[in-house]
Amino acid sequence: MTAFRELSVENRIKTLQNEGAINDAEATFLLKQFAESSDTTIPADVANHMIEHQIGKYTLPVGVVRGLVVNGEVRDVLVATEEPSVIAAACNGARIAAATDVGFDATTDVGYGIIARSPQYVTTAQIAFEDADGSVAARLRRIVEDKEKVAELLRIANESHPSMSKRGGGARKCRASALHGFAKLEIDVDTCDAMGANTVNTMGEAVKAQLESWLGVQALVAILTNTSRVATTAEVHIPVEALASRRLEDYERECEGKRLARRIAALSALAASDPARAATHNKGILNGIAGAALASGNDTRALESAAHAWAARSGRYLPLSKWNTETLNGKTILHGSIEIPLQIGIIGGSISSLPMAKLAIKISNYKNANDFRNTLAALGLVQNLAALRALAGPGIQAGHMALQSSNLAIAAGAKGEEIAEIAHDILQLSPAERTAEKVTQLLQKLRESSKN
Ligand code: MEV
Repeated sequence: MTAFRELSVENRIKTLQNEGAINDAEATFLLKQFAESSDTTIPADVANHMIEHQIGKYTLPVGVVRGLVVNGEVRDVLVATEEPSVIAAACNGARIAAATDVGFDATTDVGYGIIARSPQYVTTAQIAFEDADGSVAARLRRIVEDKEKVAELLRIANESHPSMSKRGGGARKCRASALHGFAKLEIDVDTCDAMGANTVNTMGEAVKAQLESWLGVQALVAILTNTSRVATTAEVHIPVEALASRRLEDYERECEGKRLARRIAALSALAASDPARAATHNKGILNGIAGAALASGNDTRALESAAHAWAARSGRYLPLSKWNTETLNGKTILHGSIEIPLQIGIIGGSISSLPMAKLAIKISNYKNANDFRNTLAALGLVQNLAALRALAGPGIQAGHMALQSSNLAIAAGAKGEEIAEIAHDILQLSPAERTAEKVTQLLQKLRESSKN
């Protein structure tokens, strides 16, 4: 029997249909995707060669977060997400952070939007050995103290992937350390504007072979680590009035703004004292960041595991951002800051094969990977601000339901203009009445009334 991977995409779909895993309509849906080789999605031949056993294309809506002010530049950021409120919340947070209707104080940066900074990032390969008695760790330490041996390891790493040195990057540094029962040598690689996972894995394997020959011991593993020793930071100073509804009078706006700022600071403290809350707080931060990483063809799992490892680096899982109130020039200000490692690239990986990813990077006009990192950290901070602002105020369900109602309408089978009509009808129901059955009834009623 021909292996599944060796079948054409068409025959893989037919196999699943013959096995009863998909019905005729589902097979037609997949076959239609296969036939459409449009430049706006992934061309069929690219999709087939990008992964094993490809049978379809998974599509998500991509939206734009507009008006995110980062280091004085207004940025549009493309975000791919299945969650209805993510982009609306980010735009809301970006508007509050830029405090456009409250004004900007040049002496304090209050209302100036977000200031973000990224240090020089590296991607690191680990070559680990079993080491019950610590002898391998001692020998690895002697290697990294020997300049000639280090130069040899860096040369081997760079020669295994010469294009990285040609682009101005390459292996830079080695470290050795002892772990419980293990020893490791790490090699830091400057991967320029690429995330560099493949490059670093190739280098790690080349260095592993050399270490094995010097030590006469077989290594356990050579692979990159998805952690980072550095992080991108971003901060914002917000006049409290910007937090309150624009419909309020000036005095009420200040009082309401102060109340919300105090509660946002308390929510931040809660996340610092309860890892169960910190996980949700950080999930909110990652909502936009992971969506922007996905839209730009980056590895969202690598990014998220690095973020969570950073959050837990003290031994306790903590929030990635902090909010507190401050007094500046006699005015109450909400100060927010975030620290997050961002293992991403603007070239390499799947970016050049995915038309939407190329577009995402072009629209935002990132000058280099650090420019993208600064934008992502700013996006995480405003996303978090919008979530905490809602939680400190009316709660998130009011805003979420307005957006979620379209999804309920679509799930019940609403099409075209029916979606907005049914979504509107759903919002007139009490939360307890918003069941799938009720939405189906609303749709039937709408269709019947439009027949008459
Ligand atoms: C929902 O996707 C994200 C929030 O739960 C984040 C938070 O609770 O901070 C609203």
